[in-house]
Amino acid sequence: MALWSAQRPLGSCKTLSLLFLLLSFEWVLLSRAQTADTGQGVMMPWLQRTSQDLSWQRSEPTIIFPRALQVTEKKACPSGKETHVVDENLAFYEEWELEACVDGALLAEQMDRVNAIPFTYQQLDIFKHKLDEFYPQGYPESLIQHLNYFFLEVTPHDIHKWNVTSLETVKSLLKVSKGRKMDAQVAALIARYLVGGGQLDKATLDTLASFHPTYLCFLSPEQLSSVQQDAVWTAMPQDLVSCHPLQMDILYSKARIAFQNMSGSEYFARIKPFLAGASTEDLRALVPQNISMDIATFKTLRKEVLLPLTIAEVRKLLGPNLAELKVEEGNSPVRDWIFRQRQIDLDSLGLGLHGGIPNGYLVLDLNFREALSGSPHLLGPGPVLTVIPTLLLALILN
Ligand SMILES: *[C@@H]1O[C@H](CO)[C@@H](O)[C@H](O)[C@H]1NC(C)=O
Ligand SMILES: *[C@@H]1O[C@H](CO)[C@@H](O)[C@H](O)[C@H]1NC(C)=O
Ligand SMILES: *[C@@H]1O[C@H](CO)[C@@H](O)[C@H](O)[C@H]1NC(C)=O
Repeated sequence: MALWSAQRPLGSCKTLSLLFLLLSFEWVLLSRAQTADTGQGVMMPWLQRTSQDLSWQRSEPTIIFPRALQVTEKKACPSGKETHVVDENLAFYEEWELEACVDGALLAEQMDRVNAIPFTYQQLDIFKHKLDEFYPQGYPESLIQHLNYFFLEVTPHDIHKWNVTSLETVKSLLKVSKGRKMDAQVAALIARYLVGGGQLDKATLDTLASFHPTYLCFLSPEQLSSVQQDAVWTAMPQDLVSCHPLQMDILYSKARIAFQNMSGSEYFARIKPFLAGASTEDLRALVPQNISMDIATFKTLRKEVLLPLTIAEVRKLLGPNLAELKVEEGNSPVRDWIFRQRQIDLDSLGLGLHGGIPNGYLVLDLNFREALSGSPHLLGPGPVLTVIPTLLLALILN
C-alpha cells in the first residue's frame, strides 16, 4: 500500500539516527584524542604525521587541534563553581562551565527548576546533552512527567526511546507543544503512548486536532473515528503512507463526508490521498468526472477494488495519464489488473501492455469470473501458463 514516494516518518527517523551516529562518532574521536593524551606531547607529533599523510588536506589538523584542546579544557569544574542545586546563578555560567559543573542526575532531579529559570538556548542545549549522556537508553518516565517546557528540546529520535504510560503526561506535553513546530515530536509521543497500550480520550483527540496530523496512522480504527474532521483537511499523502487498510477505510469515509460539497477536480484533489480506502463503486463514480488520475494515485488503489474496473473505465479514469500504465505493467496492482483483461482489449489501448488473457484462449464469462473473485489467480493465465512449462520439464527429465 505504501506507494507514495514522499518521505515517511520512518525516513526522517533514519536520518536522525544517522546524524546521531555521526555525532557519536565525532564524540568518540574526541574522547579518544582526550584519553590518548591531553597535552601536546603526543598530539603534536601525531598531528604533524597526519598533516604529512594528509598534505592534500591541509586545513584538517588546524580544525582537530583546537577542538581537542577545548575538550581537555572542559574537563575540570573551576573551584567554587561546583553545582549541587539548579538556581539562577547557573544562568551566568559560561557554556563550558555548565558542561563541566552540572551533571545529568541533578538536572533530572530538578527539572522543575530548569524550567523556571530563563536559560539561553545554548545553555539548554548543554543541559540536553548532559541528560542524554546520563540516560543513553532514553529518559525514565519519572523525568518525562516533569519535562514540561524542556520537551521543546527533545527530538522524535529521543522520544522513540521512551516509555509513556500516563495520559496526564501526554496531555501536559501536548499543552507545551501547542502552537509550536512540534508535529513530529507529538506524533512520536502519541506512538509511544499507544504502543504501551495507552488509550486516548476525546479531549486529547481534540487537542491533537491542532497539530499537523502526522500521528494518524498510529491511531486505532476506533480512535480514528473520534478524530476531528480538521485532520482530513490538513493530512498530506506522506501522513498516510504507513496506514493500514482498516485505517484508510475510516479516514476515507471521514474525508468523503468532509469534502461532500465539492465536485470534479476540486473534490479529486482533496480526496486523492485517501483513495486507498475507496470502493469500486466510488471509483466508478469518479470515472465520468474527467479527473485524469495520476499513476501514483492509481497505484495506491486497493487491488480488489481495482480488479473489477473495465478497460474503458480505466482509460477514462486516467485520461491523458493512461500511457503510464506501461511503466507499472510489472507491479501490483496494475499487473493484477492486466492479468484479468483480454490481451486483444489491452492491445486496443496501443500501449504495448503484455500479460492479458491470450487471444484465442478460453474466455470465461466475466461475470462468472467476478463471482469467483476470491481466487482470481486460478482463472488468470499466469498460473496456467506456469503449469505448462513445469509439465514439459517433468517430461524431459523423465
Ligand atoms: C521501556 O520499557 C522497556 C520494557 O519494560 C525497558 O526494557 C526499557 O528499558 C524502558 N525504557 C526506558 C527509557 O525506560
Ligand atoms: C464546502 O464546505 C466547506 C465547509 O464545510 C466550505 O469551507 C467550502 O467553501 C464549501 N465548498 C463549496 C464548494 O461549497
Ligand atoms: C468530460 O469530458 C467529456 C469530453 O471531453 C465531456 O463531454 C464531458 O462533459 C466532461 N465531463 C465533465 C464532468 O466535465
